[in-house]
Amino acid sequence: MSKIHAAITAVNGYVPDYILTNAELESMVDTNDEWITSRTGIKERRILKGEGLATSDMAVPAVKGLLEKRGIGADELELIIFCTSTPDMLFPATANILADKIGAVNAWGYDLQAACSGFLFGITTGAQFIESGRHKKVLVVGGDKMSSVINYTDRSTCIIFGDGCGAVLLEPNEEGLGLIDSILKTDGSGSPYLNIKGGGSLHPATHETVDLGYHYAFQEGKTVFKFAVTNMANVAAEIMERNELTASDIAWLVPHQANKRIIDATAERMGISQEKVMINIQRYGNTTSGTIPLCLWEWEKQLKKGDKLILAAFGGGFTWGSIYLTWAY
Ligand code: UT7
Repeated sequence: MSKIHAAITAVNGYVPDYILTNAELESMVDTNDEWITSRTGIKERRILKGEGLATSDMAVPAVKGLLEKRGIGADELELIIFCTSTPDMLFPATANILADKIGAVNAWGYDLQAACSGFLFGITTGAQFIESGRHKKVLVVGGDKMSSVINYTDRSTCIIFGDGCGAVLLEPNEEGLGLIDSILKTDGSGSPYLNIKGGGSLHPATHETVDLGYHYAFQEGKTVFKFAVTNMANVAAEIMERNELTASDIAWLVPHQANKRIIDATAERMGISQEKVMINIQRYGNTTSGTIPLCLWEWEKQLKKGDKLILAAFGGGFTWGSIYLTWAY
């Protein structure tokens, strides 16, 4: 019997309606459209507005749409891996909350936190349950309500991040299609440069931590940029090399959308031309765990069975990695 691969068999996404434009940011902090566009490639991002709405509330429409597309019920899901850095609460896991909201009564689940690389870590982890034969339907969600952890007076972070959520279904494939290889890395020495310090066991929330702004995302942009640009390109090149892929073999590069300059550098290193790179950063900014599934969702109609895709990401932790997969439908 041929090896069982874990293949993506459905994808869907959700972004909130509210559009935060560069023009609106100009009225909030000392910035301008020209700076944001030339340094990041971002023109606008989506924000989840409204009382009582959290990350799981973006996942609900994304996953309901996905189940509808695939023609299955929520009760058929066996495992939910929710990749997020902005869970609804510290616990219970957002995977549990989502399962309840969609009626996934037969699934177990957990949250996976690997910042902007979360979705790559999530589908690699989910694939193990398919390849081992343990499960036949694994839902991997990547979503973040970054607006809940952004200081909208800090121009170095508020221009970058946005809210959004995407999801894929993993199922067994015996035609050799699906996840082929992945390289994932972590380096905790990067933690001082991109983090949310407060609310954990090191700095539990107090008046003081709030006064210090520890509940906001902090980023030393220049340092992160240097690591991101080198490591994301290196890991993408490494996965091509070890799978003997040349640029002409690759149908699409699906990069994490943190900065257009990082995306361009990665594509250049791989020798991939712009028209084969999925880029929607101009409309959504950096949605952390959401960027890659949102790209797959938006490009779904252009994907063909057998297409070779390289996914690549870099994020807080530091975490980074690359996945080689073939599209299965
Ligand atoms: O997704 C997770 C991983 N994250 C990343 O990959 C992000 C990596 N970092 C970046 O994308 C970039 O570093 C940023 C977009 C965050 C910043 O761009 P930069 O080109 O590295 O700018 P910088 O921080 O070096 O700042 C350059 C100048 C500074 O002014 P001076 O000191 O040269 O006078 C900043 O004060 O730009 C200034 N600046 C701004 N000006 C207008 C910083 N932010 C802004 C702003 N508007 N929003």
